[in-house]
Formats: sequence, structure tokens, C-alpha cells
Amino acid sequence: MRIVVVGGAGTIGRRLVPVLRARGHNVVTAGRTTGELRVDLTDHASVEALYRAAGRVDGVVCVAAHGAPDEFRTLTVDALRDNLAAKFLGQVDLVLTGQHQCADGASFTLTSGIFADRPWPGVTGGGVISGALHSFVLSAAIELPAGMRVNVVSPTLVADSVDTFDFAGLRPVGMPELVAHYLDCVEGDRTGGIVRAYG
Ligand SMILES: NC(=O)c1ccc[n+]([C@@H]2O[C@H](COP(=O)([O-])OP(=O)(O)OC[C@H]3O[C@@H](n4cnc5c(N)ncnc54)[C@H](OP(=O)(O)O)[C@@H]3O)[C@@H](O)[C@H]2O)c1
Repeated sequence: MRIVVVGGAGTIGRRLVPVLRARGHNVVTAGRTTGELRVDLTDHASVEALYRAAGRVDGVVCVAAHGAPDEFRTLTVDALRDNLAAKFLGQVDLVLTGQHQCADGASFTLTSGIFADRPWPGVTGGGVISGALHSFVLSAAIELPAGMRVNVVSPTLVADSVDTFDFAGLRPVGMPELVAHYLDCVEGDRTGGIVRAYG
């Protein structure tokens, strides 16, 4: 399958991409400054250009763009709206635009995160983004045309990020286990799945 991995050079992406390639997939990576193709998830024209550049696509995986941390007492609606732009609306755009561009039966595999389900200080935006992604996937799964599928992987802190993020008390999910969840979404036949990779 020809698979576009947005964020393919990132922490999760750099573990997933070699495994997809080893399994015979034709993978093209994308990012704002990294990867083989350029895309900025906050820019709809850029998402359209990505699909034009990618050619026939059988699968899209997005492992890009975090929700920004916030401080609830000073959080504003404007800041929350800005926070939604890349990780929520950008991933939604990959699906809404991709439904017209991808091959019949193509899959979309998005990424949310544990704060959809588990409150944590300083991540109101991140939680809202991930919860909204879960609801989007439920709707998109029954609406997508031509046998297309959509799922979302919701990781807890990933093992390769334990030294990057200070979420003491969150047990990390191992990278092989996490990669296996993405593979299942790409290569299996499920749709509408919210895959809670909570270790
Ligand atoms: N790491 C964790 O512990 C963890 C836990 C739960 C959920 N997640 C979620 O998993 C996803 C991937 O996380 P990660 O840790 O692998 O991220 P990462 O290491 O920061 O890598 C993110 C990748 O996304 C690309 N990117 C960022 N903003 C973008 C944009 N606006 N448009 C296009 N590409 C963009 C970056 O490349 P460029 O700079 O070239 O654009 C980079 O390759 C995120 O949604 C994150 O919130 C991660």
C-alpha cells in the first residue's frame, strides 16, 4: 500500500515508518520541515497540496502536532481555538479532504491521547482535542465513501518520550506495542475504532 505518514520524522513516526517499510508498504513521510513532502496541518491549501503531491494514496497516518499545554486560570477561548488548529482541525482536514483524493478502501489513522479520558493539570486543550477526535472518528466512520476506514490511536505517554514530558505517574506504553496498534489500523479492516494504548 502507498501510505502517507504525516509526522513521520517525529518520536512515534520514526518508530512506525521503518516497520511499515519492512512490511512492504510504499511510505512517504510529510511534515512542515521534515519528511519527503511538505504539509502544515494548520493550512488547508497545504493539505490539498499534500494530496496532489502524494498521488494515489491507500492509507494516511497522522502522528503530528501536539496540543499545547495551558493554564486553566488564564486560558481563553482564543487560545483554545488556536490550540485546536493543528492537532484537531488539521487531522480532520486530512480526512475531509482525503475522502475526495484517496483510493477506494483507503484508511485514515489519526492520533489523539490519554487526556481525552483522564483529567490532568495543564492539558485542558489537549484533552478537548483528543475527545473531539474520538467523536469525529465515530461520525466519519459511518459517513466515509468507497469503503474508506478511519480509526484513532490514543496513546498514553510513550516510552520514547519519558525524558521529554513530565507526566509523573503515567505508566508509558512501549513502542512495539504502540506501533502494533497503528499497524492493525492500517492493515486490518476495522473502522470507527478508538484504540486506547494506555499501557
Ligand atoms: N509522545 C508522546 O508521549 C505522546 C503521547 C500521547 C499522544 N501523543 C501524540 O502523538 C502525536 C505524535 O507525537 P510525537 O511525540 O511523535 O510528536 P513529535 O516527536 O513532536 O513529532 C511531531 C511531528 O509532527 C510534525 N508536525 C508538527 N506540527 C505539524 C504541523 N502543523 N503540520 C504538519 N506536521 C507537523 C513534526 O515535523 P515538522 O516539525 O517538520 O512539522 C514532527 O515530525 C501527537 O499528536 C501527540 O500529541 C504523543
